[in-house]
Amino acid sequence: MSCIVAIGAQWGDEGKAKMIDYFSKDTDIIVRYQGGANAGHTVVVDGVKHVFHLIPSGILHEGKVCVIGNGVVVDPEVLLEEIELLESKGMNLTGRLYISDAAHLILPLHKAFDEVMEEFRSNKIGTTKRGIGPAYSDKCLRIGLRVGDIFDNALLKEKLDFDIKLKNLYLEKVFARDPFPFEKIYAIIDRFRDKIRKMVINTPHYLHTALDAGKRILLEGAQGFALDIDHGTYPFVTSSNPTIGGALLGTGLNTFNIEKIFGITKAYITRVGEGPFPTEEKGEIGEMLRTRGGEFGATTGRPRRCGWFDLPLIRQARRINGITDMALTKLDVLSGLKTIKIAVAYRLDGKEIDYFPSAQLHRVEPLYENLPGWQEDIAECTEFNSLPKQAQNYVRYIERESGIKLSLISNGADRKNTFLVS
Ligand code: IMP
Repeated sequence: MSCIVAIGAQWGDEGKAKMIDYFSKDTDIIVRYQGGANAGHTVVVDGVKHVFHLIPSGILHEGKVCVIGNGVVVDPEVLLEEIELLESKGMNLTGRLYISDAAHLILPLHKAFDEVMEEFRSNKIGTTKRGIGPAYSDKCLRIGLRVGDIFDNALLKEKLDFDIKLKNLYLEKVFARDPFPFEKIYAIIDRFRDKIRKMVINTPHYLHTALDAGKRILLEGAQGFALDIDHGTYPFVTSSNPTIGGALLGTGLNTFNIEKIFGITKAYITRVGEGPFPTEEKGEIGEMLRTRGGEFGATTGRPRRCGWFDLPLIRQARRINGITDMALTKLDVLSGLKTIKIAVAYRLDGKEIDYFPSAQLHRVEPLYENLPGWQEDIAECTEFNSLPKQAQNYVRYIERESGIKLSLISNGADRKNTFLVS
């Protein structure tokens, strides 16, 4: 049992990459378990910003092994770009990056589909247009192309031929778009397989063998609890399970392997794309949080919607994921506010409820508690006791009301702005 999981406990963009970077020091292997290049992981090291979409951010720690698990949908063009970028910086990825043979591929066809679906549907989701939904759909339809398939040329050609014919039919006949030539897609995969040949493995076998040998594993979630296709605000969700079930399915590990589950949460809350967001602040406060927090999507650059911390949401995240510890990020962004609001319950159909009704969320009204804010800049604080009293009260309030032990606070973008809470 030496596996910790880092899960986004809100709508994604909780600052997971920074926390994963922090945990990476004490782990041997970092594994991505779901999602694809819809995620953007930003890590700042010594003032230099690094953004990854597929390769776990742990790759920046020398000697650590990174794994892309079977639950991830891999865009070959994005992964090639990231591998080549790291190699151009002198990094040797031999023995440092492995990819599951059972991970599914995202082809240009999937991205084209994602785009036209968004254009044609009346109830827009605001996807990242990275082909995520169409690739997971193909997986469920059992027509998806897996990483392992591309090394059997006959199988690859047969699967590609079928998928391209099928998608081109839709693209041309339903959406009046240009079809994709087989050669164009084959060429992408051809280049990709040459590059990754030695990185492709059976990841469940690798991970269990590593655990048996006493290695420590970190499972890295992308997106967040409320974007989960089963437990989030469907249909305004992603097409995978960022929650704990996805962590197990997407790696082949089991419940007995898990030691701790960290819920990563921002000290306020954001959402990008469409969908209900009860504590959203559309006016001045929202603008201030967006500007101070740099709340713009790492993948699409879209401005994120911002609002107050939401206790019913975090309680649901705790229950569904079995969160044992909380890492609270971006506390510094709240400095300067006279009062900080926090949603403690919702009103739904005239009744007060303290849980997160994902299917009725668009109808709830948040009920707030007002807590006193603090004026000091807290970026230089390196321990809990050096935080202003009001900041201490705010985080202890969250800890008490959410029922999750607060373990870590992040109060700035850099690696050094993180401290443990006892
Ligand atoms: P998709 O995952 O691209 O299909 O997008 C579905 C929904 O999830 C949209 O609302 C996206 O904005 C949101 N989403 C996807 N990835 C992320 C992420 O990494 N952070 C925050 N929101 C995301």
